[in-house]
Amino acid sequence: MPPAAQTDTGAESGTESMQDPAWWRQAAVYQIYPRSFADSDGDGIGDLRGVTSRVSYLTALGIDAVWLSPFYPSALADGGYDVDDYRDVDPRLGTLEDFDEMITALHGAGIKCIVDIVPNHTSNRHVWFQEALASPRGSAARDRYIFRDGTGPDGSSPPSDWDSVFGGPAWEQTQDGQWYLHLFAREQPDLNWDTREVRDDFLRTLRFWSDRGVDGFRVDVAHALTKDMAEPLPSKAELAPEGENAEGRHPFWDRDEVHEVFEEWRSVFNEYTPPRTAVAEAWVHADRRARYASPEGLGQAFNFDLLRADWDADQFRDIIAANLKEATGSGASSTWVFSNHDVVRHATRYGLPAMESGAGQDGSAWLISGGTESALDRDLGERRARAATQLMLALPGSAYLYQGEELGLHEVADIPDDARQDPTFFRNAGVDVGRDGCRVPLPWTAAGTSFGFGDGGAHLPQPAWFGEYAVQVQEEDPSSTLSFYRRALELRHQLQGEESLEWVQESSAEILHFSRPGRWRSITNFGRTPVELPEGPVLLSSSPLEDGRLPADTTVWLG
Ligand code: GLC
Repeated sequence: MPPAAQTDTGAESGTESMQDPAWWRQAAVYQIYPRSFADSDGDGIGDLRGVTSRVSYLTALGIDAVWLSPFYPSALADGGYDVDDYRDVDPRLGTLEDFDEMITALHGAGIKCIVDIVPNHTSNRHVWFQEALASPRGSAARDRYIFRDGTGPDGSSPPSDWDSVFGGPAWEQTQDGQWYLHLFAREQPDLNWDTREVRDDFLRTLRFWSDRGVDGFRVDVAHALTKDMAEPLPSKAELAPEGENAEGRHPFWDRDEVHEVFEEWRSVFNEYTPPRTAVAEAWVHADRRARYASPEGLGQAFNFDLLRADWDADQFRDIIAANLKEATGSGASSTWVFSNHDVVRHATRYGLPAMESGAGQDGSAWLISGGTESALDRDLGERRARAATQLMLALPGSAYLYQGEELGLHEVADIPDDARQDPTFFRNAGVDVGRDGCRVPLPWTAAGTSFGFGDGGAHLPQPAWFGEYAVQVQEEDPSSTLSFYRRALELRHQLQGEESLEWVQESSAEILHFSRPGRWRSITNFGRTPVELPEGPVLLSSSPLEDGRLPADTTVWLG
């Protein structure tokens, strides 16, 4: 275990692939939630030097890139997605010099670095918003945001009855009586993307981080930026179908004009060698995703289809086929993801009865609650999660992994109310426990202060069972989930440069079988009984084979 706060490049200096403009197409990208990864200074909050100190861990894991969730100055009203200053580091997480050292260490180990960019809203502490509050109605300072007069005889009712994504009204009244729009928490005022100044400032931010060596950007709620705020504002009941079915008609989701913004971003990305990459977080209808992912736009877009699917062969098959087709059409490669900082960890989802684990079909996957410990079948969840991950790692496209899933970590369901941090919890009292359960600091050691996360405590309480899942324990166990991830990621590198997939017909609909031509075959058993395997050397199996047969809830790769 490397001591915290020490630079550890972990590998020989950068490889040729660092210059490859297509590096992202099949990358395994590991999401780091910096506050919960590793704490170098013992203040209970993970930091950038903590990331640097674990580069050898990332190298051993075998990922190609990391994506860092926001590390910018922030009051943490929404876990850092409320940004005070886009071109600085939160002092609790380090300095710009620490950032540079981290990039150097990552690049030295041949690992790319993607940062999160949050363009839909600033925090309410951002200098622009403070200026807006101090400026009169109709001023240029207010025009950077979306201020409106209220309705009713004295303007004391909000401009519309819209709800925020986190629950409660989407408008907040200021001291002088005007209201501002916040699609998320009230501490996250929405920017007005019709203003040139807002657009230019983000271009500056993209260059700022690109100049510092950042390889790409994950674009937060990319489908929300541009809005039609023409009055009269429609009421909630009059709004075009929400989110994913809006098809360009909704006043704030997925409007066509948003692509003008991303075309400008693309010109900035292409100023660099290799061009900077981007991936859109866009909860839009599948038919409209390709435009976000086009080479003239951001280049890639998340699809959360597998994340929301049941453990069901037909659903998986249809989703994979549809997304590969879509990726071919857009010129991008597909993206795959089972876990991130917004959803219940997939080991837990797969271990809960379907009714409790099913994510919303409305794009609000983060609204699912943590489930209850009593209903959870831990072993089943972990077994299916490993099978699902192995299947995903055999697919063409980029695989996005979330810190802790390589340990088979479960959601932490039993966080006391007074320790919770997520605004979705506070804005939906008693209905939604929020997303803290997947953001609990990682266990590095079996025992000791905060399980090796740092010398201080952990900013979210870690349960006693975290020790069993610690990196230290799993590194010594060849059958651990960590050892399994390392082997799978190592084998996955054999697939580089090859993006085709061929389905192999099976007699049972519960078997999903495909081959990566010239490489190997992946077979998953979604059924309940073991099945015979075709001939071929076994490269990796997510659970032990039973008398040479593929048991339930297992994926195998055959050479
Ligand atoms: C995205 C982020 C989420 C955040 C929200 C508002 O969905 O993934 O964590 O709360 O945007 O910025």
